[in-house]
Amino acid sequence: MRIAMIGTGYVGLVSGACFSEFGVHVTCMDKDSSKIDQLLRGEIPIYEPGLDDLVAKNVKAGRLNFTLDLETAMKGADAVFIAVGTPTRRGDGHADLSYVYAAAEEIAANLDGYTVVVNKSTVPVGTGREVEAIIRKARPDAEFDVASNPEFLREGAAISDFMRPDRVVIGAESECARETMRQLYRPLHLIETPIVMTNRETAELTKYAANAFLATKITFINEIADLCEKVGADVHDVAKGIGLDGRIGKKFLHPGPGYGGSCFPKDTLALVRTAQQHAAPVRIVETVVDINDKRKKSMTSRIAAACDGSLAGKTVAVLGVTFKPNTDDMRDAPSLDIVPALQAAGAHVRAFDPAGMHEAAKLLGGVDWCTDAYQPLEGADCVAILTEWNEFRALDLNRCKALLKRPVMVDLRNIYNPEDMAKAGFAYSSIGRGTGQGNSRESAPAG
Ligand code: UDX
Repeated sequence: MRIAMIGTGYVGLVSGACFSEFGVHVTCMDKDSSKIDQLLRGEIPIYEPGLDDLVAKNVKAGRLNFTLDLETAMKGADAVFIAVGTPTRRGDGHADLSYVYAAAEEIAANLDGYTVVVNKSTVPVGTGREVEAIIRKARPDAEFDVASNPEFLREGAAISDFMRPDRVVIGAESECARETMRQLYRPLHLIETPIVMTNRETAELTKYAANAFLATKITFINEIADLCEKVGADVHDVAKGIGLDGRIGKKFLHPGPGYGGSCFPKDTLALVRTAQQHAAPVRIVETVVDINDKRKKSMTSRIAAACDGSLAGKTVAVLGVTFKPNTDDMRDAPSLDIVPALQAAGAHVRAFDPAGMHEAAKLLGGVDWCTDAYQPLEGADCVAILTEWNEFRALDLNRCKALLKRPVMVDLRNIYNPEDMAKAGFAYSSIGRGTGQGNSRESAPAG
C-alpha cells in the first residue's frame, strides 16, 4: 500500500510515521519548506515522545519520505490523507476549513487513477461531501472516493494511541473505499481493534461527540470538586466512587484548572456552532464551554487567596505552562489565562516548564523564565503548579521551603497529598479536597 499525507503537523506526522511502521509506503507533504527541511535533516518539528525514533527507523527502511511536492507524494498512492489544521475561525467560532478546501483543490489537480481521499483533520459534518464536490467539479471524470477517518490520539501518548487504539472510525460510502481503509488498518485486526464502519456524516460527528463528551466529563468533575471544597468532601474519592461504575468509567474524572489543548476548546465550540446552525442546539456543550472559560480565569483568585488575598507586589513561582505534560503545546493552556491575570493583579511571575518555555515566551510577556523547577521559587511568595509534569511530582519540599519566602503551594493538578504537605509545613491548597488550604483530610492523589 502507498499513501500520501498532506500536512506534517501533529496528526499528519504521527499518522504518517505510524502507517509507515505498519508497512505502508508513506510520503508526507507540507507546504512549509522549513518543516520539510527539518524532517529531511532528521529533526522532528514537534515534541512527542518516541516520534523521533519511529520516524528515523522508517525513513531508514525507505517507507517514509517527505516532500514539498504533492504530485510526487500522490504518485501511485492508494489513498491521500488530509491532515491539515482546522483552527477556530476568528469571529464566529466555526472551524476554519480553508486549509482543507485548498488541499481538496490540489488533490484534484494531482489525482492519478483510483484514489481514496481521506479526511483525518477534525472537520464539521458535511465537509467530506463538500471535499467530494470540490474535487468532482475540478475533475468530473476522476476516479476517487472521499472517506472520513477521524483521529483520536492524545498528545504525549500519540504513538500508542495510534498503534493500539480503542477503536478506529471510518466513514466511507463505497466498497472500494471501505476495502482500502480496511487494508491500511490491517495490522490492527491482529490486536482485535474494533472498526466502526459507517457513513461519512456519522464518522465526522463521532469525533466531535467524543471530544465534547470527554470535555463534559472533565467539566462535571471540576464543578463537583468546587462543591467538595464547600462541603468538606474529597473529589478523588467521589471520582473513584462514581468511576468504578462501569457505566460512568474511571477516566477523565481528574479535576484541574479547566481543559485546554488543541482539540477540546476548538472542537466543543465548533460543535456548538454546527448544532446551532442546524437548529438542534447542544445546550450541555454550550454550558461546558462557558464553564471552562470562566474556570480557567477563576484560578487566579485561588492563587491570590493563598497569598493572603492580594497579589500586589507578590512574586508567584509558576511550575508548568503547557496545557498538559509531555508536550510543548501551549494552545488554550490554562496558563495563558492565569499568568496574565496574575500580572494584572500586580504579581511578578517567575516560571519553569520542561518543554513549553520556548513557545510560551512568545505568548506570555513579562515572565522571568527559569532553568529548573527550583529556580522560580527563590524569594517567591507562593508556588503554583499549573501542569502535572512528572518532575514536579517529587520536589524536594525542604529545598522548596528554604527557597520560598513563605511555604505556600497552590496545586491546581492535585499532585501532592494534603496531609503530607501539612506535615511538611506547607500552607497547601488544591482542587476539590475539603476546604482547600491546609486541608488535612486523607486523600490519595490520582495519577
Ligand atoms: C484530546 C483527546 O483526548 C483526543 O482523543 C483527541 O483526539 C484530541 O483531544 P489531547 O488534547 O492531546 O487529546 O489531551 P487530553 O489528554 O485529552 O487532555 C485534554 C485536556 O483535558 C488537558 O488540558 C488536560 O489537562 C485536561 N484533562 C484531561 C483534565 O483536566 N482532566 C482529566 O481527567 C483529563
